[in-house]
Amino acid sequence: MAERWTPDSWRKKPIQQVPDYPDRQALADVEKQLATFPPLVFAGEARNLKKQLARVAKGEAFLLQGGDCAESFAEHGANNIRDFFRMFLQMAVVLTYAAASPVVKVGRIAGQFAKPRSSPSEKRDGKELPSYRGDIINDIAFTEEARRPDPRRQIEAYRQSAATLNLLRAFAQGGYANLASVRQWMLGFVKDSPQSRRYVELSDRISEALGFMQACGLDPEQHNELRTTEFYTSHEALLLGFEEAMTRVDSTTGDWYATSGHMLWIGDRTRQHDHAHIEYARGIKNPLGLKCGPSSKPDDLLRLIDILNPDNEPGRLTLIGRFGAEKAGELLPPLVRAVKREGKVVLWSCDPMHGNTITSATGYKTRPFDLILKEVRSFFEVHQAEGTYAGGVHLEMTGQNVTECTGGARAITEADLNDRYHTVCDPRLNAEQAIDLAFLLAELLKKERSGQAKQVPAVAGL
Ligand code: PEP
Ligand code: CO
Repeated sequence: MAERWTPDSWRKKPIQQVPDYPDRQALADVEKQLATFPPLVFAGEARNLKKQLARVAKGEAFLLQGGDCAESFAEHGANNIRDFFRMFLQMAVVLTYAAASPVVKVGRIAGQFAKPRSSPSEKRDGKELPSYRGDIINDIAFTEEARRPDPRRQIEAYRQSAATLNLLRAFAQGGYANLASVRQWMLGFVKDSPQSRRYVELSDRISEALGFMQACGLDPEQHNELRTTEFYTSHEALLLGFEEAMTRVDSTTGDWYATSGHMLWIGDRTRQHDHAHIEYARGIKNPLGLKCGPSSKPDDLLRLIDILNPDNEPGRLTLIGRFGAEKAGELLPPLVRAVKREGKVVLWSCDPMHGNTITSATGYKTRPFDLILKEVRSFFEVHQAEGTYAGGVHLEMTGQNVTECTGGARAITEADLNDRYHTVCDPRLNAEQAIDLAFLLAELLKKERSGQAKQVPAVAGL
């Protein structure tokens, strides 16, 4: 029998990755203040997302989740948000059109501020300071003062999330996402890129289809599905004091929801079944993500599934694998088989970023684009072989023209990384690399879905 859950029941459990706040009273005051702030998202929206994710789990749609590794206060601005959003729309349109699959769009945005670290401290030139843990906790500058956790940053993160979400809602619902603008979503620097021709061709075909519909008397402007889009937010549920303050009862159902984002996930370092992060996550009704990595064992995973989704509710749980390109083919199948054998309904997603991080000869943390593609391919192959759905991807990417991951159509080299390396945490795909990846995903998805469709009669005839 599970113990009673409350938004603060995690406080009695062991916990990993907690910042060492020097002023406990100031932290408690901030949490108290946050608890009075309006919710950022509504329970009904989280329920809608769960319904969409349930469709993905059944193979009826594809999940595209992505954004910065860590949002930063310094990079907050309308242009960044717009560029990210239109890159996301481009990727989604490539997938929707080329693979004929609806795409559920979930940003790592409007709340993705807290970072787990492999080491609590960082050493430079003989000096040791606490690690940077994300702008919601401390500052990236390498000074004692900057690295001291400051609870007031939580208020700043809340305000930035609210402003970001406000703009995203306007873009999604206010006309920017209109399919008639498919050509205009192209970013300046992508326009003269090697794959831009493919995108232009695709957008021309979409425009033609819209023109055809209009000629037949169907006015695209009258159809909300063509004029607007649904866009959801997500982040890692890491800073539990903040999450607790944003956890509210939904007045229509009486259930608890995290109102800091639509979907929350538990990271690879904080998924111990009897620890604080899993305790917090089990009690909220939002759709949840759970990272699975090389250390995930089938039995542990099944236990976590029972804790996080005891009613086997479709759409509740997304398992996000991040094994590394070389290991995914070996480590993912035993997990997929165990989950299938036990009849658990989950959405399988692939994070091809976090298992493929290397340090370049020039000292930058980077990810070779080829390894990212390799892990994605391996993910599709495994699901094809196991008769399950490759449901989605989880990416670190930006709409900016950065040079953080090597490779891609423009062949960024290790020497190029120095040009525009802006991330405050992990290296991100730039917009060109992300759109390139979307075309590959569309091919894989199209192949998978046509293969699955052929398999249906055989299964039905059993
Ligand atoms: C992340 O998603 O940025 C992250 C830290 O991932 P993981 O928990 O899988 O290492
Ligand atoms: Co990351």
